[in-house]
Amino acid sequence: MALLLAIESSCDETAVAIVRGEAGGAAEVLASEVSSQIELHREHGGVVPELASRNHSLRLRGLVEKAISDAGVTMPEIDAFAATTGPGLASSLLIGSTAAKGMACAADRPFLAINHLEGHLLSPFLDRTAVPPHLALIVSGGHTLLLDVEGPGRYRKLGGTRDDAAGEAYDKVGKMLGLPYPGGPEIEKNARGGNPAAYDFPRSMLHDPHLDFSFSGLKTAVLYTLQKANGKVSTADLSASFQQAVIEILVGKTLRAARESGRSVIALSGGVSLNQALRRAFQDACAKSGHELITASPDFCTDNAAMIAFAGLLRHLAGECSPLGEDIHPNLPLA
Ligand code: KG4
Ligand code: ZN
Repeated sequence: MALLLAIESSCDETAVAIVRGEAGGAAEVLASEVSSQIELHREHGGVVPELASRNHSLRLRGLVEKAISDAGVTMPEIDAFAATTGPGLASSLLIGSTAAKGMACAADRPFLAINHLEGHLLSPFLDRTAVPPHLALIVSGGHTLLLDVEGPGRYRKLGGTRDDAAGEAYDKVGKMLGLPYPGGPEIEKNARGGNPAAYDFPRSMLHDPHLDFSFSGLKTAVLYTLQKANGKVSTADLSASFQQAVIEILVGKTLRAARESGRSVIALSGGVSLNQALRRAFQDACAKSGHELITASPDFCTDNAAMIAFAGLLRHLAGECSPLGEDIHPNLPLA
């Protein structure tokens, strides 16, 4: 049985979590603290890196203390410390990784450098330490990634976005429509009262033979529609039509990737996977195709440290550790 504390600070959420687990057995999240900076960045319409890193450093100590107290453990009981070291904003990554290394050094315990995307990828499996072979779709603000997963640490990239990530497209379209940041949940709310067939937006690359994505043409199509109508459009219809295009692209390509890779399990993770309409579309498609769908629990879709702790726990239980001199890697790929 091992106890692990992890810090996530790759973008604008400061997060600390403690997990407990044993090799081949169950894993348990004992504490998961997330301090969102959304309000702070909202007036700027997006994340301001320097504001984000300063706030990580202000909030981190309090979050570590709260996690220790919520988990009902003491610092000397922690067996290993982990932190996200990439990809993400350099100044933000430095705060969390330096703090985790400092704690590991002071406690003379191992440090584990974790890839943020591995955290998302493993987040649907947080309640177990056995991760089955599957086809993974990570859809977040920074990434849209299809991977074939043999098991923990064994990932093969099948496709990714060639321009904007799905969440980024949601956020940019939200901005065009004058909705608050982040646009994803706002567009989902507006789309509920709209007609998804009101506008025929492009489903870029949906039928191309490769498994890459492109969302910038869709975003531009929304912009042109707004410009042509002098902004006099129904936000609900536009949101619903935009969302319908995103859903058809994501579901279509993911199901094809699962068929081609022969995987029977599909796992969804990342902030965009919170979207209820997207989840329903995946449930319907998987019910028809016979694939098993596993989604991350809503608490663990957007950025959090529980997923980083879980990834760290699996690596720690496998006997791995990282050097304390490990650098941050803002553009770190997963596979
Ligand atoms: O995973 P995440 O917290 O951060 C990254 O690692 O990027 O994802 C944040 C993204 C944002 O782009 C946000 O707009 C999007 O997830 N998002 C949603 C929803 N909730 C969050 N997109 C669509 N529908 C939602 N309900
Ligand atoms: Zn993320």
